[in-house]
Amino acid sequence: MSSIKINIDNAGVGRELGAIEGEVMQAMCTLHEGSGAGNDFLGWVHLPSSISGTQLDEIRQTADALRAKADLIIVIGIGGSYLGAKAVIEAMGDSFGYLRKQQGPTVVFAGQNLSEDYLYELMQAAGEHEVAAIVISKSGTTTEPAVAFRLVKEAIEKRYGKAEAATRIVAVTDAARGALRKLATQEGYKTFVIPDNVGGRFSVLTPVGLLPIAVAGIDIAALVRGAQEMEAATAPSVPFAENPAAIYAAARNILYRKGFKTEILAAYEPKLLFVAEWWKQLYGESEGKEHKGIFPASVTLTADLHSMGQYIQQGERTLMETVISVGAPQHTVQIDADAENLDGLNFLAGKRVSGVNRMAELGTMLAHVDGGVPNIKIEIPAVTPHHIGALLYFFEAACGISGYTLGVNPFDQPGVEAYKKNMFALLDKPGYEAEGKAIRERLK
Ligand code: PA5
Repeated sequence: MSSIKINIDNAGVGRELGAIEGEVMQAMCTLHEGSGAGNDFLGWVHLPSSISGTQLDEIRQTADALRAKADLIIVIGIGGSYLGAKAVIEAMGDSFGYLRKQQGPTVVFAGQNLSEDYLYELMQAAGEHEVAAIVISKSGTTTEPAVAFRLVKEAIEKRYGKAEAATRIVAVTDAARGALRKLATQEGYKTFVIPDNVGGRFSVLTPVGLLPIAVAGIDIAALVRGAQEMEAATAPSVPFAENPAAIYAAARNILYRKGFKTEILAAYEPKLLFVAEWWKQLYGESEGKEHKGIFPASVTLTADLHSMGQYIQQGERTLMETVISVGAPQHTVQIDADAENLDGLNFLAGKRVSGVNRMAELGTMLAHVDGGVPNIKIEIPAVTPHHIGALLYFFEAACGISGYTLGVNPFDQPGVEAYKKNMFALLDKPGYEAEGKAIRERLK
């Protein structure tokens, strides 16, 4: 019995479900047999059940060593080498941790942009703390993290000397290829390997995600156990109707074929904002190709009901909404009666804030469905490492199935190269001289 439940009662797909079942189950077989496009990137499928206690121990020991040395840990990476860790750390963190005397180090991210001000401000802040860094890049050649790491490495070396700096930097990269592997070997950094057969956006349960998550003091064993539970719950042996990944893949593909081209992932828990960012990369990069694919968008509710709510209710009718519905909060806050009732809120007296949030969720779902926005509900019992691990694997499994159902290779990302070619040409990177000439002509 899995802790993630999917409810498609309000998706309006009941009539088409039987017709797509065969296609979805075929897509699931293709995924699990490894007979489809991109089958050299299926290492994530059985990753949860194959992670050993020894691997987790090594990650935890390295995390503890960094935590002992530093109160600020800079995690450098972009895309799949960033979003998974960010998603889990945000989900599990204290929303106001930065205002409180914390037990562990603060984890911040860099290398996910090329903003000079961001990097300047990071270096200023770093100067006021004991610092360590984790640099993550599978290819080892991605420009954004490479630029950030050059700056961070220089600052750490200047501050602590080269030998001590080498104990404060950990690299997560390919086993043999790429500039980062070469640099890490030369500098004597502790390293972790990103398996060849796991693509960036499916790598959260490798050291790419697990090391920064452990550094933040989060229970990675519980995260992995949640993912293991979902690996079993989404296996091809689980019948279609009971398999949440198959049902999710089926519902969104039915809706896409009916003209619902944008999927909004909604959460009523602001801590899940980066789970939605991670999900957007997972689905956008996996499915958006060959001029096909659902456009993944996201909202945090109820905040965005006061900004995007109007469009969702009455704008173009091409939207479907998938809600991550959290069963229970971690804490209790009750609204008390007020003798004067000047704010007129005594009708809520005795209620918990989560009860009000639940009614907002229910009322919004009904309004959106009435307005022509089909609703898929993904229920998780609570925001804990276990359930977040389950949720992440659920989305990965469904993504593989959904991509094959759509008829694309869910495991490549050829489109990501286009901007890089132009940027390198404009920056006069050696090897891009001809492109540079052509692009300058075009911009004249
Ligand atoms: O999912 C992907 O493959 C990408 O988002 C990569 O993770 C991203 O481009 C970063 O690549 P790298 O880890 O090689 O620096």
